[in-house]
Amino acid sequence: MKGVILAGGSGTRLHPLTRITNKHLLPIYDRPMISYAIEALVLAGISEMMLVTGGTHAGEFLRLLGNGEEYGIDRLLYAYQERPGGIAEALGLAERFVGDDPVLVMLADNIVERSFRPTVEAFADQGKGARILLTEEDDPVHLRHLGVPEFDQQGHITAIHEKPESPPSSYAVTGIYCYDPQVFEVIGHLEPSGRGELEITDVNNWYVTQGTMAYDVLQGFWGDAGESMEAYYAVNDFVRANGVNKP
Ligand code: G1P
Repeated sequence: MKGVILAGGSGTRLHPLTRITNKHLLPIYDRPMISYAIEALVLAGISEMMLVTGGTHAGEFLRLLGNGEEYGIDRLLYAYQERPGGIAEALGLAERFVGDDPVLVMLADNIVERSFRPTVEAFADQGKGARILLTEEDDPVHLRHLGVPEFDQQGHITAIHEKPESPPSSYAVTGIYCYDPQVFEVIGHLEPSGRGELEITDVNNWYVTQGTMAYDVLQGFWGDAGESMEAYYAVNDFVRANGVNKP
């Protein structure tokens, strides 16, 4: 299984901090944010990965991560996104790197307390389609800023709603996704959304309509440190008090 870490975007929700650096280089407790995603993939057993980033600070990732040996990575590649065009567009840049392998994709502003290794292993058994990680979230105000799944009575996902006015469940879609290599064909057919981006939720809904979307519910803390200044500090506080990326 290959890994793709997405660390692009303009980070407008964290302005003015992100006017002078890339969001994923901001500190979370004692390390740059990007280190946590790298650590999470290594902990999940992924040792070949591509980091997709963009903007004027892309060089800093090389300075920080180098060839990745220090982090336990066998092969670390980089891709440069010319302009922010959405999560799905950024993933598209990893097509040749991923080739015919399954891929785990992680948004680099997502921080997890517990390893998602069980999901990676379950996806290896699943063989095709997609598998996403959900987290329980009771607060409808928070859910309106995230992707929210809708379920049928058997607990299958019937649709994912991006930033819904009325959240259809008490679960959020995290930024951790497993796909078969067909994902690149799906991305190739996407139309930009209202915000002018290729949306990962459209990719996920394609797998939902094919009936090949599975999911797991993440245990422990999950945070999206790029969601708002409040979320950024909530993640910092949690990491400092409890630590994350635990097996
Ligand atoms: C993205 C996804 C959303 C998901 C979130 C998790 O949102 O579009 O479905 O819940 O990541 O971090 P964004 O951060 O781009 O607004």
